[in-house]
Amino acid sequence: MKVVHTIEELRDQLRGQLRVAFVPTMGNLHPAHLALMKLARQHGDPVVASIFVNRLQFGPNEDFDQYPRTLAADIEKLERERDVYVLFAPNEREMYPEPQNFQVQPPSDLGGILEGEFRPGFFGGVSTVVLKLFSCVQPSVAVFGKKDYQQLMVIRNMCRQFQLPVNILAHETVRDADGLALSSRNVFLQPAERAEAPQLYATLQSVQADIQAGSTDIHALEGQAVQALNSRGWDVDYISLRRQRDLLVPSQEELSAGEPLVVLAAAKLGGTRLIDNLEVCKK
Ligand code: PAJ
Repeated sequence: MKVVHTIEELRDQLRGQLRVAFVPTMGNLHPAHLALMKLARQHGDPVVASIFVNRLQFGPNEDFDQYPRTLAADIEKLERERDVYVLFAPNEREMYPEPQNFQVQPPSDLGGILEGEFRPGFFGGVSTVVLKLFSCVQPSVAVFGKKDYQQLMVIRNMCRQFQLPVNILAHETVRDADGLALSSRNVFLQPAERAEAPQLYATLQSVQADIQAGSTDIHALEGQAVQALNSRGWDVDYISLRRQRDLLVPSQEELSAGEPLVVLAAAKLGGTRLIDNLEVCKK
């Protein structure tokens, strides 16, 4: 694997390549990231991964400085898996040599809801860096995880509206055996919190089961789910049932007609904020 830190070196490595498959990350790689790279390998050649902790997508009181940076260990993992041909690991000066005054602004009805409501500016920061990374790597395929369901949708819509010639592939959420979705932030969980953390997914599963059993009172379901977690010591930002296609709230008619739904959640456990989601299709 070639490790490059500048855009110029990256372009040198990729000159003439027309089937590049790309996996952008912020590093501290875990098995879910590696699974995305395996999927990339099946859909393009060569596979390029990036590791860049993007300041633009962190709010002023968020964990940018604490975000785990483990480049040497990440490189070892990638070398072992042998799926990635070039790792692009730029520093901030390479990605943002001057203030990034041109920025992508996602529409508020997608970028301002759910995660965007609790993390203002987050999806603008994500879209801007992803557009910039796409312009550096010029992939024909890029892989994103469904764990970040709204992010995946924001990127898909951005590509469609800007007519970027990149095919966006989604990888299913990768979980530990107890159901907890893998995340770089899981390392911040204290042992007791780690033991409690799978409750987030368990709660989403119970909402899914209730919908499949015919419940149509969304507000009550969401409220019960929030209560259940808060009473166990969580601090829930939201648990919300939405339409899969655009993340808007389904009408009662759509609910009864079996509209494909997804239940999305964000909640803090101690100092760690976790997100997760689960698709819900009426049987
Ligand atoms: P990061 O959190 O490092 O995630 C990189 C990719 O891995 C994203 O597409 C994310 O959805 C996926 N991923 C993380 N955990 C996953 C899991 N348990 N199952 C499936 N996929 C998972 O997301 C980002 O970085 C950044 O916002 C980025 C897109 C790189 C822009 O800075």
